[in-house]
Amino acid sequence: MAHEVTSTGPVNIAVIKYWGKRDTELILPTNSSISITLSQDQLRSKTTIRASPNFTKTRLWLNGVEELNLDNNVRLQNCLRATMKLRKEYEDQLSDEIGIDNVQPISSYKLHICSENNFPTAAGLASSASGFACLVYTLSQLYELPISTTELSKIARQGSGSACRSLFGGFVNWQMGTKQDGSDSQALQIAPHDHWPELEALICVVSDAKKGTSSTEGMQNTVKTSTLLQHRINNVVPERMKLMIDAINRKDFNKFAELTMKDSNQFHACCLDTFPPIFYLNDVSRAIIRVITEYNNTTGKPDEFKAAYTFDAGPNAVIYALKQNIPEIINLISKYFPPSQNNVTYFSNPYNLFSNEK
Ligand code: PMV
Repeated sequence: MAHEVTSTGPVNIAVIKYWGKRDTELILPTNSSISITLSQDQLRSKTTIRASPNFTKTRLWLNGVEELNLDNNVRLQNCLRATMKLRKEYEDQLSDEIGIDNVQPISSYKLHICSENNFPTAAGLASSASGFACLVYTLSQLYELPISTTELSKIARQGSGSACRSLFGGFVNWQMGTKQDGSDSQALQIAPHDHWPELEALICVVSDAKKGTSSTEGMQNTVKTSTLLQHRINNVVPERMKLMIDAINRKDFNKFAELTMKDSNQFHACCLDTFPPIFYLNDVSRAIIRVITEYNNTTGKPDEFKAAYTFDAGPNAVIYALKQNIPEIINLISKYFPPSQNNVTYFSNPYNLFSNEK
């Protein structure tokens, strides 16, 4: 009998950025990070997995057209292997309890996987985060794995580091961990999505082109060549993590905004400090930073902010702000960046977890 499950998974946007791996195989980061999981209304990945004893080969199609070659896709293989191993253990346990004839040996079936994003893939909009989180979550549903979301996050991490954070809704901490085997490099929820309903995110899609330098390649060049990254890892992020968790818990927008913008700036400074340098921001990104800075100046106080920008490994801006200021920010952005030239997409509250369409 064939088994099939479909789920959707959300994107997350970091406010304390992950950039750098200390173990490239297990995907162990050089610093901890914090993100917010966005609503699935407009950005989401969707994965359908079918397991059948009749399939002769495991296959994966991306966005309906492209069949991926799985043989040299180590990260995908790692996620598949880890979940299949857990399923096998579960089957063995069930066999002991209810008898081998009553257990479906799904762990031995080949899989057909269809994965799609309803937004540009690899354009710096966290498509690998939602994609791998969705894949691993769907596998856990297919295999009916009795494991916690944090345990699952350690598997998703091996697909794409930031994917571990997309398994939770709301505000999420990826603890870098210290162990060599990665068993303590995991995601934990700081607060659920309804903790701070006034906080919203606005995504400004500056370019939906595939990025020039992948995050995998970019971050390892930064690890190898940037002295600023070493300063960031040792002297900046540990304190910033504490301050950010505190700001989120207290719903202190001013502190949250200051830390978010400083951390985005430092991440891009590390990219610039990479040799040869990596440029993810373009002229429009920098103009958005200037507009938000001027907008924040209207508060008249250097430590009061109405909006916080952040940029991942691409030119697209994510602006975090309190609900009451969002209409003003949309007006500002559409005035300086007319929709004919720039597509501004608006997203509502940080949202929760996956919808399982099983
Ligand atoms: O998980 P990756 O390899 O796509 O790396 C993501 C890195 C950033 O998006 C730039 C920062 C982050 O923490 O999400």
